[in-house]
Amino acid sequence: MFNFDKNNIMSHLIAPSLLSANFGNLQHDINMVNKSEADWFHLDVMDGVFVPNISFGIPVISAIKKLAKKPLDVHLMIVQPERYITDFKKAGADTLTVHYEAVTHLNRTIHAIKQEGMKAGVVLNPHTSIILLENIITEVDLVLLMSVNPGFGGQKFIENTYTKIEQLKELIIKKGSSALIEVDGGVNLDNASKLIQAGVDVLVAGNAIFKSANPSETIHSFKSL
Ligand code: DX5
Ligand code: ZN
Repeated sequence: MFNFDKNNIMSHLIAPSLLSANFGNLQHDINMVNKSEADWFHLDVMDGVFVPNISFGIPVISAIKKLAKKPLDVHLMIVQPERYITDFKKAGADTLTVHYEAVTHLNRTIHAIKQEGMKAGVVLNPHTSIILLENIITEVDLVLLMSVNPGFGGQKFIENTYTKIEQLKELIIKKGSSALIEVDGGVNLDNASKLIQAGVDVLVAGNAIFKSANPSETIHSFKSL
């Protein structure tokens, strides 16, 4: 059910970010995503230390898991994420993504995530260079490129991301890696086509989906690009 093989992915995947959903009625928005053409749920965990904002954590993810009919793509914006790998597995994470900038022993952390039976991803902040992935790219299932400074939804897309996508694609090919490329932050219907053409496999979108007049129709538009 969880299609993660690059060769099997016919087109780009869409991962709506629940950070922009209505927290007063999450069930409504989860059902909308369930019924839509979206592929994954993108869940943003923020600790108020790694990023200047606090979102939600393990109990909320467990509650979402009970209602969600699609894989949970959990983006950890927390310090020392290695301390909580088992907890996020128990809560129902299918993919666990940690920030390069937050982890000292990245190789160990990536393998610990895989050991728990989850797909393992690494995230780069906008200023972090692709070249730093040279010695980890064959170990990860996913690279998430931040196209805004993490912490908040609704920010403006950073244009330099296109250059990073190009460099990442080159590195993936050079090293024979099967990592998916995911982009997060400021993604909308105006820049999504260019991102897909550049080689992005997974588009995360928060505001562009949940603040639109018809979220499920917007997801359809993203999938139709
Ligand atoms: C930002 C989060 C994003 C956020 C994206 O730190 O990682 O996932 O929800 O929101 P938009 O799509 O509104 O930029
Ligand atoms: Zn995110």
